[in-house]
This record gives sequence, structure tokens and C-alpha cells, in this order.
Amino acid sequence: MATLLMCNPLFYDVTYSINPWMRPTEVPTDRSLAQRQWDQLVQTFTDLGVRVEVIPGRANLPDMVFTANAGLVSGKRVVLARFKHPERQPERHFFGDWFATHGYTIVDFLDDHSWEGAGDSLVGAAPNGQPEYLYLGHDFRSDWQAVTHPGWRTFLPTHRVYPLKLVDPYFYHLDTCFCPLQRGIALIYPPAFLPEQIACLEQEHGLTLLKVPEADARKFACNAVCVDHSVVIPAGCGATRELLRSAGFEAIETPVTEFIKAGGACKCLTLRLE
Ligand code: ARG
Repeated sequence: MATLLMCNPLFYDVTYSINPWMRPTEVPTDRSLAQRQWDQLVQTFTDLGVRVEVIPGRANLPDMVFTANAGLVSGKRVVLARFKHPERQPERHFFGDWFATHGYTIVDFLDDHSWEGAGDSLVGAAPNGQPEYLYLGHDFRSDWQAVTHPGWRTFLPTHRVYPLKLVDPYFYHLDTCFCPLQRGIALIYPPAFLPEQIACLEQEHGLTLLKVPEADARKFACNAVCVDHSVVIPAGCGATRELLRSAGFEAIETPVTEFIKAGGACKCLTLRLE
């Protein structure tokens, strides 16, 4: 059974701006609506048979709700994120505490290089399941030194590391524009990447890319969570729903408008535990 770590949105808000989506004065958040949307997302996962673990939110850490950025988990080991912006750096302590008290070994090899956890680190496989890749997004939030660090080969010895450069500031984390599903199929918003890297994913890694149109990408259609043949995506992404259907997946749409105001959606609100 899949398990996801989520953080309750008690202290969620948009109070500062560290990405172009966050405009605290012009686009205020409705906090009670955010709570209802988060509750509905939890219910959606529960209905799919996913177990949800909840870490409490903390005052003055409004982005802690985006647990995808806490780190990357493999078995009972976790690499904790090193947040780029001072606004999010204190989250590391609280996530670290949670992992330690839940029996995880904390693996630390990143020194002072910034790297923002599963938000910039996605696992995907070729159509026959082999090889498996660890896709690492870089430059907006995660440094080149972090994504090319040899430590990844020890952490995930069976995976091939492939860094992906992100080029559009609205798609600043890899999980905002790319989502490997199953059987070598992935959702992607190509303009967020270098064309030669898109070609490599298709031709060398053998991926079938479901190319999401701009209108859906801007509703965070790629920020999706795949559970067997179901893919949880933000509400209102009709073209993506059809793309998924044609590839044999069922889209489950859920409203996350309040979180998009901070630059995150379904996937950013979760961290896969094993
Ligand atoms: N406001 C948060 C930030 O800028 C949003 C994080 C979204 N998380 C993600 N995994 N894409 O850091």
C-alpha cells in the first residue's frame, strides 16, 4: 500500500514571494477554503487505498504544507532537503525530527548545496521497467553541484541519474512540469525544458510523453500523483484528462486553487514514503 506524508494546512498562507506565483498582496489566500481543499485531497487518496501520514504544520512556516520538498525517501532512509530560500530553511529541522522519530536514517551528503527534495527528484522507468532513472531538476531551486553529486549513486544504486535543466521560472521545481506515471509514460510540459533533453527522454530513455498544453500546465496538470491506474490532478485540466484516458489512465480531478497561489498543487502537497 502506498503511503504519503502530508502536512496539515493550519498555518498555510502566502505571506512572502519566492516564486512568480506568489503575490501575497494581489492574490490573497482563502485559508478556510485551503483547509477544505486539503481535506478533499486527503479523502481522494484514502478512497484510492493510499495511507496518509500527517505531520503538524508550524507557525510562520506557511510553505511546510508542501511536503514534497522535505526530502527524498528510499526504504527507511531519507535525504533531507537543503532549502534555497531562508523563508523555508527552518522546515528542515521539523521534517528531520519527524523522520528521526519515525525510524528513518537521515542520509546527508549535500554539504551546503541547495536541493529541494522530491520536488526536484522524480523516479521513472523505461517501458519495460528497466533501467530506472532518478530525474533531478536543477537551477531554480536545486544546484548543479547537488544534482550531480556522487552521493545519489550510493543512495539509489540501481538508478541512473539524469539531471534536467528547468528554464521557465513559473515551473521552478521538476514536479511542476514533469510526472513519470507507469509503463514508461509521463506527463510533461515541454517548454519548461531544453528541447534536446525532451528528445533524449523520448529517444534514449524510450518514454512516451503526454504533452500537456500550456493552459493545463498553468493549472499544474503535471503536478499529479499516480496511484495504479488513477492519476490525481488539479480540477479543470480537461485536455490532460483526455491525454491520460487515451493512455489508459483515469484522471481524478480535485480542486487545489488555494495552493496554486503559492506555486504548488496535488503532488507538491505529498511526499511518497515506502
Ligand atoms: N511556495 C512553495 C515554494 O516556492 C511552493 C512549493 C511547491 N512544491 C513543489 N514540490 N513544487 O517553495
